Amino acid sequence: MKGLLITLEGIDGSGKGTAARHIAAWLAETMPERRLVLTAEPTSGQVGKILRAEMARMDDETESSPAKRMQELFLFMADHAHHLTKTVLPALQTGAIVLSDRYADSTAAYQGVTLRGIVPDPVSWIQSIYLPWNLPPDRTLLFVLDPKVALQRMQSRQGRQKFERLEFLRLVDENFRRMAALEPERFVQIDAKQDAKKVAKEAINAILNLIRSG
Ligand code: TYD
Repeated sequence: MKGLLITLEGIDGSGKGTAARHIAAWLAETMPERRLVLTAEPTSGQVGKILRAEMARMDDETESSPAKRMQELFLFMADHAHHLTKTVLPALQTGAIVLSDRYADSTAAYQGVTLRGIVPDPVSWIQSIYLPWNLPPDRTLLFVLDPKVALQRMQSRQGRQKFERLEFLRLVDENFRRMAALEPERFVQIDAKQDAKKVAKEAINAILNLIRSG
């Protein structure tokens, strides 16, 4: 059986995590024979731990230097490379469905904002670095939600202020939507404003279409 790589993307507060839990429960019930690997970036592995520690430190700073932003980009990339080699590729080789809550598109969308003014056209630049070695997902489900609504949903959450500011999330959201428009076959855009059950249903339908097309 051919492995399938499905990624979930969207701004903070867009409901990817909740959708991932619904999808996992549905897969376990309807396709118990199919192995599912639920995973995420940033990872909880060695690089992911360093990355989270750095991110927490950067949250306390109002301005970060170009070098720090580059450091952050390359930590995300290193974490992705580690995730790909240690988790994603081995799981796909066993024929599993790999469901990743964030993947390389998050780096293009988020660091595509943090590197504005430091490198020209940062989204394309980041994508060009990934191109020679990254494994593109079979499908990417993009959870689209107005950043204002996402922020309201997140009010109870703590920390990571830098990534949760409205203006910042607006730019990330624009990047995601532009990337999806450029690759309409890979991206499925899901209206994340709906209630969680409807969001999960749309996500599940997109996965069913993918499985049936293979
Ligand atoms: P998130 O998925 O929210 O992780 P968790 O809730 O488990 O801590 O990701 C943490 C933040 O990192 C989120 O604001 C998005 C950001 N991020 C990037 O800026 N670049 C990336 O490449 C990835 C994977 C995440």
